[in-house]
This record gives sequence, C-alpha cells and structure tokens, in this order.
Amino acid sequence: MSPDQRIILALDVPGFDDAVEIIDRFHEHVEIFKVGSELFTASGPGIIEKVHAYGKKVFLDLKFHDIPTTVYKSALAAARLGVFMFNVHTLGGSAMMQQAAEAVRKVSLKENVNRPKVIGVTILTSMDQERMQSEMGISLRMSAQVKHLASMAQRAGLDGVVASAEEAEEIRARFGRDFLIVTPGIRPVWAVADDQKRTLTPREAIKKGADYLVIGRAVLSQPDPPGALKRIEDEIAGF
Ligand code: C5P
Repeated sequence: MSPDQRIILALDVPGFDDAVEIIDRFHEHVEIFKVGSELFTASGPGIIEKVHAYGKKVFLDLKFHDIPTTVYKSALAAARLGVFMFNVHTLGGSAMMQQAAEAVRKVSLKENVNRPKVIGVTILTSMDQERMQSEMGISLRMSAQVKHLASMAQRAGLDGVVASAEEAEEIRARFGRDFLIVTPGIRPVWAVADDQKRTLTPREAIKKGADYLVIGRAVLSQPDPPGALKRIEDEIAGF
C-alpha cells in the first residue's frame, strides 16, 4: 500500500462544516477519513455521505460496546451506511463480537452492500499498564492482555484490531498477515504526545507491522497541517 492509502486522517472536529473543510483540504492526499463519536454525535450520517461524495472511504470509529443484540443492530446500521470499516470494543466479549461479524456478513449478502471490515479495539492507547491494572483490575501485562483480546477478536470472526504500535509486532507474528492492525497513538519525533501514552513514530509503526495509521493531532494541530502530512507520508514511503 502507498502512504496515502495507509493513513487514516481523524476528523476530530466539532461539526459538519469543520469536517468538510478538512476533507476538502486533504482529499487528494488521503484515502480514508475517520469519523469518531464527537463528529458523528454532532453531525449524524450526513458527514459519511459527504466523505463518500468525495470518492473517499470512512472508518466509523464509534467503538460499539453493548449487549450483543444492540451491537448486532448497530453493526447492521453501520454497514448500511456503506462505511469501509468500523469498530467494536473487544472488552464487550466474544458473543458481542460474533454478533457484529454476523451482522455485516448477513447484510452484505442480503442487501448488496459492501461488507465493511470490523475491527476490535483492544486497550486504548491513552491507557498505560499501571492504570489498566489498578483501575480496570486486569492483572496481565499490557502485551499479554492485548494479545488475549486480539485472539478473542480473531476467533469471533473480526477482521483485525486497533492496538498500539508497541504491540503490533507481536500481533502480526501471532495472528498472520491477513489480520488487520490499525494503530492510533502515532507521534512523529517532532509532535507532542498529548493524552496518548503508548505512542510510536509512523515509521516504527509500519516497521512493526501496522496496516493503517490513525493520525489526528500530529497533522491537524500542527502549524502547517498539509506539510505535516507530507512529512509523515515521506517517513513511511518505501515500506
Ligand atoms: O490526535 P490523535 O492522533 O492522538 O488521535 C487519535 C484518534 O484515534 C482519536 O480520534 C481517537 O479517538 C482514536 N483512537 C485512539 N485509540 C483507540 C482507537 C481510536 O486514540 N484505541
């Protein structure tokens, strides 16, 4: 994949007009835009249609985490929006993930929509091991916990996981070439970490096996956002 196909630009803005401004500015250099809970809550599915109108793909990052029936219905709704990819929390459990996978399989067979990729969020990149253990009561080490959740996701029929680039290498080695790895928490050496804890540079993430890099502030909070995107694309070119 070329760099512009690997980068998922996060539309982390409050409303429809702000998002359109970004899509308009970057659509020639980015293939996939991420619509998260802030933007989707504010603007609804109209923003997804807008990305599609530019001929681009959507990663719908709503991180479903609910009872299996509710996630099944949410997954149907996401698939019907024609998104390229959406995600669920692996911590919602195997039955919930199976229902998400089943929903997209069914809707794509019966309703002639493209089957979206369903990705499981493992442990958020804003969480470090100490807080995961003390607050969530999980006693495993971070890398073991992420592998455990990735294994559940694979067995439940998901297409891959969202994980920190720090864990990408082990996930790639264990779960094979076809299991997608989407990594947020990407910070080039010239960008600040913000609230992210488990960060790696774009080049490190790709070297460790990430398929897609989710990038928000490392581009959009820079003084020269198009220049920042270009630097990142140059950094991962050739891998
Ligand atoms: O600005 P930054 O590049 O840190 O943004 C990362 C984006 O990826 C945010 O929109 C955040 O919601 C999302 N994300 C994340 N960790 C996950 C899944 C998604 O940071 N596990």
